[in-house]
Amino acid sequence: MEKGQDQNMKWTLNNNYSGVFNEKELVFFNNKYIDKVLRFQKSHSKYNKTPLLSLKNLSRYLNVKEIRVKDESKRFGLNAFKVMGGIYAVGKYLAEKLERDIDSLSFDELRSPETKEKLGEITFISATDGNHGRGIAWAARELGQKSVIYLPKGSSRSRLEAVQQEGAYGEITDMNYDDTVRMCAELAEEKGWVMVQDTAWEGYDKIPLWIMQGYAAIAKEIIEELEAEEAEAPTHIILQAGVGSFAAGIAAYFKNHYRELAPKIIIVEPEAADTYYRSFSKGTGEIVPVTGHMNSIMAGLNCGEPNVRAFRILNQYAYSSFSSTDRLAALGMRVLGNPLGSDEKIISGESGAIPLGLLFYLQKFAEPEAAEALQLDEKASVLIINTEGDTDAEHYLDVVWHGTQGQVPRPN
Ligand SMILES: Cc1ncc(COP(=O)(O)O)c(C=O)c1O
Repeated sequence: MEKGQDQNMKWTLNNNYSGVFNEKELVFFNNKYIDKVLRFQKSHSKYNKTPLLSLKNLSRYLNVKEIRVKDESKRFGLNAFKVMGGIYAVGKYLAEKLERDIDSLSFDELRSPETKEKLGEITFISATDGNHGRGIAWAARELGQKSVIYLPKGSSRSRLEAVQQEGAYGEITDMNYDDTVRMCAELAEEKGWVMVQDTAWEGYDKIPLWIMQGYAAIAKEIIEELEAEEAEAPTHIILQAGVGSFAAGIAAYFKNHYRELAPKIIIVEPEAADTYYRSFSKGTGEIVPVTGHMNSIMAGLNCGEPNVRAFRILNQYAYSSFSSTDRLAALGMRVLGNPLGSDEKIISGESGAIPLGLLFYLQKFAEPEAAEALQLDEKASVLIINTEGDTDAEHYLDVVWHGTQGQVPRPN
């Protein structure tokens, strides 16, 4: 298995990568499901397709054919992609409660006083770095329901406030993300609240699957736009992973759609929470969890225990995986915010910017082995998803104005 490391990142190819299609797993991400998901998301009056930008000057500079960035900071005015999962999961849950097919429901109907009366009062609970919680709090408030959101230790006050501003009860715990999830599951059980969590474990799989399907609709939007332009499919997608629900939802949709011609899936995580990297490095197909306090600036990716379904999918379809220092996320934030020539400016937060920071690093700084192993060359058409804007606005400025993460040192 090819692998390598320097002082800025570690990488490995995934031993278990397979060209075989596991239809049992992929079926949940085909258009039979995802058409319905996107239809429901579109039924919200604030729905807008997010921009898909081509950074032409940057692609020339980095010696690849194309770099496209889907900018999820523009999603529903919430500055992050996460609500695409939350809105669908909450909608689907309520549809089941009403014994209705989600296909026959619109968001507006769900928030009507008649529906509220039928449903009664519901409290949604979730553990989150902030982006997912904000999406759940927003969806709950829009539907006239309540939400309770717990953020893990180390979360910033501004992320907590963003959740509270959406009408949720919010609190920062003194535990890491994974332990906060366990605490919320216990509270939900005890109080009869509905847990809407973006990760799955043994016995809790239904709602996380809906969330992953909600994310897969982003891939559908991308492909629809590429096809409308008669553009070629990307050859590579670099996806950031926390629990991996996002990356797996996107990867599964692309695999389903392009089949043998699907792009190479590259996963990137912070070194503080690199469970996919460690698992792929070990190569046995087992999960190697990360425990303890995780303090990467990539707050959305500080998760040490993967979603088990996402792990199954990525263990099969991810081509390689990277464990990155925070410096590369900072690099991505600076580059996207200061474009070359006529390229569009993109405000990208810590977790949003890491794929671009990594690509930049591989093409400009790193020893060539990793880029060569991945065929990141002048024929490569790379897709990246900016999953968040400046969701922690003060920290964003600390990084891009005050250079708190320092420069990226040349590998030695
Ligand atoms: C901005 C951002 N990007 C990416 C992710 C990763 O998503 P997942 O935990 O499903 O891997 C998160 C998760 O919170 C996030 O907030």
